[in-house]
Formats: sequence, C-alpha cells, structure tokens
Amino acid sequence: MVLSVIPAYGVCNEQTVQVGRWPEAVPQVVQPCFPCHGPQGRSGSPAIPSLAGLPRDYLEDVMSAYRYGGRFGTVMGRLLRAYDDNEIRVMARYFSRQPYLVQKQATDWRLADRGRLLHRRYCRDCHGDPAQPPDRGVPPLHGRWMDYLRWTLRDYLVGINQGDEAMANRLRDLLRRQGSEGLESLVHYYGKAKP
Ligand code: HEC
Ligand code: HEC
Repeated sequence: MVLSVIPAYGVCNEQTVQVGRWPEAVPQVVQPCFPCHGPQGRSGSPAIPSLAGLPRDYLEDVMSAYRYGGRFGTVMGRLLRAYDDNEIRVMARYFSRQPYLVQKQATDWRLADRGRLLHRRYCRDCHGDPAQPPDRGVPPLHGRWMDYLRWTLRDYLVGINQGDEAMANRLRDLLRRQGSEGLESLVHYYGKAKP
C-alpha cells in the first residue's frame, strides 16, 4: 500500500476503544488494533483489512512476516515490532475466533462474471471459495474489501510481499495472459462474494 491511501483512516474512531465498552473476554493486547481494524477486527475502511475470522495460522504467519520484514506494510511492520511472539499468538487466536465479515460493496457484474472463471482457473485450488473454504494458513478472499485487495495484489506482484512463491508466480502468469483487466475482474468477483 502507498501513503496516499492513509486518509482512509478517517474511520479511526477513538470511541470504539473507550474503556468499559468491551466485555472482559477481549484481551487487552488487541484493543490498540480496533481504531484501525474496527471493533473485533471488523474494518469499516476499504483500505484496511478486516481481521475477524481470518485463519489463525495465516494471522500468525503474516504478523511475524511484518515483524521480521518478509512482508511490506505501511504501518504494520513498525507497529508489530513492539509485540513478542506470545502476544502475536494471543492476537491471532482472538481475531480468528471472531465471525468472518463479508463486506457488501458495489461491483460490476460483467467483471465479476469474468473473475469467477479466472478464480477457478488460477486461484481456487489454494484460496477455495465460500462453498469450499481454503486450508489453514491460506486467507479467504470472498467478501474482502476491494481496495485492500487491489493494493495487496500489487504488493505481491512487485515482490515486496514474499509470502508464497507459488502464488506470486500464479499472479504473474495471470497478469501476462489476462492483463490488468483480469486482475480487476478477480477483485470484483471477490467483492461480490458469491461462489
Ligand atoms: C494505524 C492503523 C493500524 C493499526 C493501529 C493496526 N493496523 Fe493492522 N493494518 C493496517 C493497514 C493499513 C494494513 C495493511 C498493510 C499495511 O499497509 O501496513 C494492516 C494489515 C494488517 C494485517 C494483515 C491482514 C491480512 O489480511 O493479511 C494484520 C494481520 C494486522 N494488520 C494486524 C494488526 C494487529 C494485530 C493490530 C494491533 C496490534 C493492528 N493490525 C493495528 C493498519 C493498522
Ligand atoms: C499455491 C497456492 C496459491 C495460489 C495458486 C494463489 N494463492 Fe493467493 N495466497 C496464498 C498464500 C499461502 C497466501 C498467504 C501468503 C502470505 O503469507 O503473504 C496468499 C495470499 C493472498 C492474498 C493476500 C490476502 C490478504 O489477506 O492480505 C491475496 C489478495 C491473494 N493471495 C490473491 C490470490 C489470487 C488473486 C490468486 C489467483 C491469481 C492467488 N492468490 C493464487 C496461496 C495461493
């Protein structure tokens, strides 16, 4: 992501973290995440991913990657350096147990239709779909914020997210054969959130 998306933090809202609003069960360590990622990790900002219901293994891996520099983030790298492995485990456990959020968004049905076919061909064997969820460790894509997906796909394509080599190759292959409209079609398909 680039700095120009930062104004989308407009939704950061101090009220969401007021003491006393959260039940005892919310670990203190996750509360500083709520102003950006939303209460319980349900993000109201298209540039910031929801964390609610993402797989625990994926959350742990991705947080360690931010922390140790294997994954690019505008803010997350710096932020996670302040947490240790145990705190990362507690946070991953907490967010993975919140209900997954399907974000309602405006999509173009023609692009979404094309995206459905491309997803089957290039992405479904790892990422699954609502009818067939992915394995542990692979993030689901349906219903995610479209802006976040656009930026994060770009980050894999330019190589500053080094999460999974096979996936980066598949993305490059898709871009070569289907062009940037192919990528955009996938984003609309995920935004539409139907299998
Ligand atoms: C200042 C706003 C801000 C705060 C506070 C914040 N995040 Fe983030 N987070 C982001 C942004 C923006 C991204 C997208 C990557 C980037 O640009 O850093 C992100 C990405 C993530 C991701 C990647 C999600 C995915 O789908 O791959 C995880 C996991 C995450 N944050 C966890 C946390 C946790 C845990 C906390 C609390 C300790 C936290 N964040 C606090 C803004 C924030
Ligand atoms: C070989 C398995 C595999 C294939 C094929 C694959 N991915 Fe992935 N994908 C992964 C894994 C594993 C991750 C987590 C990587 C990490 O830790 O950064 C991931 C992460 C992502 C993310 C980041 C999600 C987030 O929450 O930040 C996006 C977006 C994504 N993939 C899109 C795609 C698209 C689009 C395709 C098809 C063109 C695709 N992937 C094909 C395995 C795959």
